[in-house]
Amino acid sequence: MVVLDVSNIEEKYQAVNGEITALKEISFRVEKGEFVSIVGPSGCGKSTLLSIIAGLMKPTSGEVFVNGEKIKGISNHIGYMLQKDNLLEWRTIYSNVMLGLEIQNNLTPENIERVIQLLKTYELYEFKDKYPSQLSGGMRQRVALIRTLAINPDILLLDEAFSALDYQTRLTVTNDVYKILKQEQVTTIMVTHDIPEGISMADKVIILSQRPAVIKEILTIDFEDENRTPLNCRKNPKFSKYFDYIWKELSSDG
Ligand SMILES: Nc1ncnc2c1ncn2[C@@H]1O[C@H](COP(=O)(O)OP(=O)(O)OP(=O)(O)O)[C@@H](O)[C@H]1O
Ligand SMILES: [Mg+2]
Repeated sequence: MVVLDVSNIEEKYQAVNGEITALKEISFRVEKGEFVSIVGPSGCGKSTLLSIIAGLMKPTSGEVFVNGEKIKGISNHIGYMLQKDNLLEWRTIYSNVMLGLEIQNNLTPENIERVIQLLKTYELYEFKDKYPSQLSGGMRQRVALIRTLAINPDILLLDEAFSALDYQTRLTVTNDVYKILKQEQVTTIMVTHDIPEGISMADKVIILSQRPAVIKEILTIDFEDENRTPLNCRKNPKFSKYFDYIWKELSSDG
């Protein structure tokens, strides 16, 4: 089932010294439960693309459909996570993860129970009365993820969501996050500068060109391993082949 359909997106910014085309002819589809990574040179338009999918920005032309419906403005169907976890320091972990439901005026007993279950499953329940400053960076990022998943989004967008973490923590957190997302069957699109991270989590990697970004290629990642995790696939012989391929694509002009 296609959850996201991005159809022929173009984005032009009006800048002081003329027009900047950030995105051109961007079209792709994402199936339910799929994990798609987006890689591309710095400043090519990756964040712009996520903002358009989130409904925070209107494309100059083209359309985005979520579950077959054209998006108009900010959508409740989409969860968005950025580099900073944006947890509210004066709220406990519990009231942080409930925030989205609270804003949507959606604190029903079933929704509350679902979020409590997520906290329990992912070993954060015992910290529910603590404050964000009492948690490690990796735990904070998991709290931020659960807060985003609390609203039950159809699509999760991650923009460099793990880049503020130190390397060791980043490996563990991406591994934990991957398990959560696969288990909950969340359709995810992740922008990352880290090619290995992009490969390690993805079913597909979208490679963008220099600005104006066009899709150079959509690479299918398949380790032919039922027990694949972001950590163990790094040892798969195919991993370095994918890396070399993407590296070459990103380094070539045009
Ligand atoms: N509001 C704006 N007005 C004018 N130009 C903008 C605006 N936002 C972004 N741009 C330009 O559009 C291009 C794409 O920006 P974007 O932030 O989407 O790139 P990115 O791929 O996410 O970059 P990075 O890898 O650094 O995160 C950049 O050249 C940027 O300068
Ligand atoms: Mg960006």
